[in-house]
Amino acid sequence: MFIKSFKFYKSKTTEPDFSEVLDFQDPNEKFVDKKRIEVKGNESYFSLISPKEWQCYEIKDRPGLIFIRNPFTPSGQRFWISRCLKDYPKSPNVVNLNPKQFSKEAINDWWNCFQTEKNDCERKRLKVSMRWTTLGYHHDWDTKVYSENMKNKFPQDLADLTKFFATTLGFENYSAEAAIVNYYPIGTTLAGHTDHSEANLDAPLFSFSFGQKAIFLLGGQSKDEKPSAMFLKSGDVVVMSKSSRLCYHAVPRVMSCELEPYNNFNSNEPEEKKCKIVNDCDDENFWTPFRHYLKDSRININIRQVLNKGQLEL
Ligand code: SIN
Repeated sequence: MFIKSFKFYKSKTTEPDFSEVLDFQDPNEKFVDKKRIEVKGNESYFSLISPKEWQCYEIKDRPGLIFIRNPFTPSGQRFWISRCLKDYPKSPNVVNLNPKQFSKEAINDWWNCFQTEKNDCERKRLKVSMRWTTLGYHHDWDTKVYSENMKNKFPQDLADLTKFFATTLGFENYSAEAAIVNYYPIGTTLAGHTDHSEANLDAPLFSFSFGQKAIFLLGGQSKDEKPSAMFLKSGDVVVMSKSSRLCYHAVPRVMSCELEPYNNFNSNEPEEKKCKIVNDCDDENFWTPFRHYLKDSRININIRQVLNKGQLEL
């Protein structure tokens, strides 16, 4: 059932029927419940709107799956998008680029190489070839085992952001220790899989999406179950906790989206609430290369806690 749905939404020969895809812009109450979150105090976090204004949902037959509809400010999205493109793929973080096909410079600092490349063909190749970078404990795609020998410092800003989401949603003692940043040019997909390599399978998995939209499938713990399909748009946050933590999921389609909040500053975001690093992203000279990249691409940051509480290493 999972594979059948994946193929259905992936189809390029005929445009699939999207009528069963949940759209949280206009959530169908038959399938979706509004989730009440108890917000303690007035605490806010840079790059986000106040948690009091977050639109949080649960899917009726998918316990543990929490969907937060874009809680990022437009400048906040710009900040995280620029981190994902300009900074996170830098060495010592690991990228998918093959040393037989790409220069050391590209493997060590992909964005800089892509931006300075003069040859259009090579620029295109650099753009579409970048598919992932790993942070913290590096995911080993062959063995699927994390190790202390394959680990770098996890970016503090991303760890703090994830902890803020975790604490606000009531997941205490969360520690972000591994992440995969996935880059999806329109037309690419991610096959069905479960994330079970972490020693800690109780801590939730956090997923932040930016850029063009995706269809995300969330199934059960076996591929026999028919998955729910939902649109993930720029800024949307998905939390896979409790019984959804080990469920099959996939991205069968990345497609253009009518909403591009990172290009739209008609928001009510008060100037004084922005901090300097987020403010710098409002500068159009700074933003133009990222705007171009995102025209036909999506980015997803997928964050996990690896260790159990009190465990210091693997
Ligand atoms: C993943 O499961 O690793 C990525 C999911 C997504 O791109 O939304």
